[in-house]
Amino acid sequence: MVDDYRVTPWQVEGEVDYERLVREFGTQKIDENLKASISSLTGELHVLIRRGVFFSHRDLDLVLKDYRDGKGFFLYTGRGPSKAMHIGHLLPFVFTKWLQDKFGVNLYVEVTDDEKFLTNQGVTLDEARSWARENILDIIAVGFDPDKTFIFQDTEYIRNMYPRALEISKKLNFSEVKSVFGFEGSANIGWIFYPAIQMVPTMFERKRCLIPSGIDQDPYWRLQRDIAESLGYPKAAQIQSRFLPPLTGISGKMSASQPETAVYLNDDPNTVRKKIMRYAFSGGQSTVELHRKLGGDPWVDIPFIWLYYFFEDDDSKIRKVEEDYRSGRMLTGELKELLTEKLNGFLGNHAVRREEATSKIDVYKFTGKLAQKMWSTVFD
Ligand code: TYM
Repeated sequence: MVDDYRVTPWQVEGEVDYERLVREFGTQKIDENLKASISSLTGELHVLIRRGVFFSHRDLDLVLKDYRDGKGFFLYTGRGPSKAMHIGHLLPFVFTKWLQDKFGVNLYVEVTDDEKFLTNQGVTLDEARSWARENILDIIAVGFDPDKTFIFQDTEYIRNMYPRALEISKKLNFSEVKSVFGFEGSANIGWIFYPAIQMVPTMFERKRCLIPSGIDQDPYWRLQRDIAESLGYPKAAQIQSRFLPPLTGISGKMSASQPETAVYLNDDPNTVRKKIMRYAFSGGQSTVELHRKLGGDPWVDIPFIWLYYFFEDDDSKIRKVEEDYRSGRMLTGELKELLTEKLNGFLGNHAVRREEATSKIDVYKFTGKLAQKMWSTVFD
């Protein structure tokens, strides 16, 4: 924790200084050389890495080396289901799909109904479990390879993971976990044990595990890296993203309790339009006249930042939007309109694939090739 911002797996407050976060967490920035090594294997770079949204890593160079040497690797990511997913939650999954497509590797998706029950006062176990089903539909809609993807809910798959969770938990004492997560005396004891559960999937295969996620999940991986080798597994590697900022401005995190800060995957086109027009923080001037004269500041403007991070994939188009907005040729209303169209197009496609996903839940959770293998494996 620092004075003006705070990032934990449960909380993001203030305007995050990502340069400083990398130093404090002890991760590495993804530099041009590493980007070149990735694209030499993938042929292109996904927009989220090209534009620096995925900006931090640990051992990604070793992952690429293992891949080149024929040892391979596997992917692991997850979701804590307490509510409907917003657009920020989906980004790591979209990026993970790209990695799976490019490298053809297995992916494990942990849905932590246990975590959300333990860490969120307002959520019952039944609610966390039913949100898990809803969130899994959104995750399936991203389009992962059904033969190479296993999506599991902790409360269902725990029997197979529990022996390994015990091994992990015995390696970690309370002081270590307390200092990494900042637990206080009032934390319930389930929450204190939970980090062991989130570490288990990093040991689902003997290969190196690569975890794409937001940088808020970092504390788990720091602990994993302390103990993995003593259990005979490689330290987990990470590729970590900054946050898609809330609609209302660059500071903090999209919040389920403040619907105006976020766009949910199930928001209808009118709601999306209203949220953007009404709440999206603008870097434009207060009147059209002034804007034409002075221009806007794209780097505080949330519609621009959302387009830049993800929704406008075309590099020459986004450059033109940036120039036009900065020079005052493009108005705030036009920029908001552009984001509204892109976002509603994206959500429309997502809704169709989510509908199709209802018939695929069993494949990803139980009957697919990887799922079947996983249900017959106990990690002891
Ligand atoms: P959860 O449900 O809080 O978040 C799911 C994923 O979304 C990322 N994320 C964001 N990314 C970009 N912009 C945002 N505004 C934004 N908000 C959230 C999170 O970093 C995460 O990658 N404990 C985890 C569940 C979990 C997990 C994992 C996550 C279990 N195993 C392995 C990643 C990797 C959680 O509650 O995530």
